[in-house]
Amino acid sequence: MFFPLSLHTLCLFLVPFTVLSNASPTKDTNGYRLARGLPPLPPRDFGRNKPGYEPTPVLRARASPSPSSVARFSGRLQVRFNNGSTIGYVQDQSGLPVSGGSDLQISITTSSTRKEQLNIVATTTNFPSPSFVGASSQGFGNATIGTGSSNFVHVSIVQKTDVLSKPIKSGNGNTSVESAIWTVDLSTKELTAQYVNQDGSLPTTFLIYDNATTNLYLTGDTTASNTSITPVKLFLVN
Ligand SMILES: *[C@@H]1O[C@H](CO)[C@@H](O)[C@H](O)[C@H]1NC(C)=O
Ligand SMILES: *[C@@H]1O[C@H](CO)[C@@H](O)[C@H](O)[C@H]1NC(C)=O
Ligand SMILES: *[C@@H]1O[C@H](CO)[C@@H](O)[C@H](O)[C@H]1NC(C)=O
Ligand SMILES: *[C@@H]1O[C@H](CO)[C@@H](O)[C@H](O)[C@H]1NC(C)=O
Ligand SMILES: *[C@@H]1O[C@H](CO)[C@@H](O)[C@H](O)[C@H]1NC(C)=O
Repeated sequence: MFFPLSLHTLCLFLVPFTVLSNASPTKDTNGYRLARGLPPLPPRDFGRNKPGYEPTPVLRARASPSPSSVARFSGRLQVRFNNGSTIGYVQDQSGLPVSGGSDLQISITTSSTRKEQLNIVATTTNFPSPSFVGASSQGFGNATIGTGSSNFVHVSIVQKTDVLSKPIKSGNGNTSVESAIWTVDLSTKELTAQYVNQDGSLPTTFLIYDNATTNLYLTGDTTASNTSITPVKLFLVN
């Protein structure tokens, strides 16, 4: 197993050894050191970087307990019917329709140590940076969804909001938005949403596709909504 050690940590190991080797030039065994209350010697290659190896800034900045805990995915958002057949890809244009333009490119940064809702960053240039794929009550509907309610919110480009934030008024004041609502299944790459209502409640959240508008929405009840809508699934693909 390979443990990346910072230079600082390495020095903590090496300094006592250096001092000790000056004082006692004879062979210094771990048993002898332990008997004197000293820490064991580091293994010969412990913490020695492979040539050219440089930890990435992401790992250093996050001070993760393990490098494998941070993963960054990039690709497109594929929309499928529940039977598995593909409808299309979220498009790089206003309202994020599922057909009629070029595919939106996105990235997601996830971590096995942080189980919270994630942001989907829109990385293509039709939108001002930074832009996020989130939920918006833009233009219609009501920001509260739930069982027995036909209310819905629009999946669209939004500003960044905190994890588990209630909907907040966006820049022009006419929409309420949330961005950090997504969870990704690391084996299937399916993305699911958890909407937060204005009262802070967490409704069961369904992703639906409206065949008439080719837009995606979130609702709390798929049977109370319009007949032209179909429950769908969202996947991160290359
Ligand atoms: C999957 O479901 C959709 C919507 O109900 C339907 O249009 C499509 O034909 C189905 N595809 C298959 C392969 O069954
Ligand atoms: C949505 O509906 C709920 C319940 O009727 C209401 O309390 C809330 O103020 C409404 N929100 C908006 C943005 O209209
Ligand atoms: C917000 O909505 C009001 C009422 O519909 C409208 O008059 C106003 O122009 C809108 N503002 C923006 C920035 O869209
Ligand atoms: C979607 O709409 C088209 C025409 O608007 C129709 O032919 C098709 O059957 C609809 N598909 C579904 C799954 O409702
Ligand atoms: C449902 O139908 C109403 C009235 O026709 C329409 O205004 C609304 O946009 C529809 N909702 C969806 C999600 O398509």
